[in-house]
Amino acid sequence: MRREFCKIISNFRVANNVYKMVIESKSISKEALPGQFLHIKPSQNYDPLLRRPISICDLDQDKGGITLLYRVCGKGTRLFAEIKPGDNLDIIGPLGKGFPIFQNKKSAIIGGGIGIAPLLILSKWLKEADIYLGYKDETYMTDEFMNYSDDVCIYTESGSRGTKGYPIEALEKNINRYDIVYACGPKQMLRAIKRLCEKNLVECYLSMEERMGCGIGACLVCACESSNNDEYKKVCIDGPVFNSKEVNLDD
Ligand SMILES: Cc1cc2nc3c(=O)[nH]c(=O)nc-3n(C[C@H](O)[C@H](O)[C@H](O)COP(=O)(O)OP(=O)(O)OC[C@H]3O[C@@H](n4cnc5c(N)ncnc54)[C@H](O)[C@@H]3O)c2cc1C
Ligand code: FES
Repeated sequence: MRREFCKIISNFRVANNVYKMVIESKSISKEALPGQFLHIKPSQNYDPLLRRPISICDLDQDKGGITLLYRVCGKGTRLFAEIKPGDNLDIIGPLGKGFPIFQNKKSAIIGGGIGIAPLLILSKWLKEADIYLGYKDETYMTDEFMNYSDDVCIYTESGSRGTKGYPIEALEKNINRYDIVYACGPKQMLRAIKRLCEKNLVECYLSMEERMGCGIGACLVCACESSNNDEYKKVCIDGPVFNSKEVNLDD
């Protein structure tokens, strides 16, 4: 983990409110693993004060390129969208525990909405995973996933592209094909995937989102309930990726 001022190579819109940014850092990209995140200062002053956590979406370790995919939803991400190529960003990373990589296991990757972000680099490293992607309406980054897998299933709630519905419907039908499932997306999707995998005795890793303060284990803002009811896990250092059995996702 290091703090660096990284040059922006590109930053453009890929869908309504969704942007793709490429930054340059040879050292961070060499250390980074799928599922880890960067903690990024949105402005050069103290407004907003807190850094924003954004997952590593793709890596070009030879050139030092790190791709981020982010949805504009508040002050910090609105500022990210204004950043121009050539500007610098104050970044701490790579942070957190990523996805464990097992070769020779049949894997499924399932993502919902902006939760697809950390799954692209994972699919590149796993090489032969089956991929299930779900969107509300507009799709993005699907060609990039197709570069890394021959089996990419696309679902939209509106039916505008792919199959109308939710990707978990297909995962449920195929669950017995898999040794391991990796997931990132809205909490209710993760809850359903956790139940499905545990019922079918399939190992499952979930990338969790919680509001963050420090990003390095010092403030407890990111605490989430563990499956051992009296204990909390810190998403920033114990996660963001957890074995599904480690966390309690019930309301
Ligand atoms: C480990 C991790 C990885 C993430 N990866 C991505 C990603 O790749 N792409 C992406 O679009 N989003 C990602 N998020 C969510 C992203 O961090 C928030 O959307 C972003 O911080 C919102 O900031 P804002 O200032 O625009 O919104 P505001 O709502 O104004 O933010 C206010 C405060 O809440 C925090 N916050 C708000 N929403 C979230 C949230 N869902 N998760 C964590 N903190 C939040 C902010 O960091 C900030 O401190 C990730 C979150 C975590 C925890
Ligand atoms: S964000 Fe401070 S402990 Fe996790």
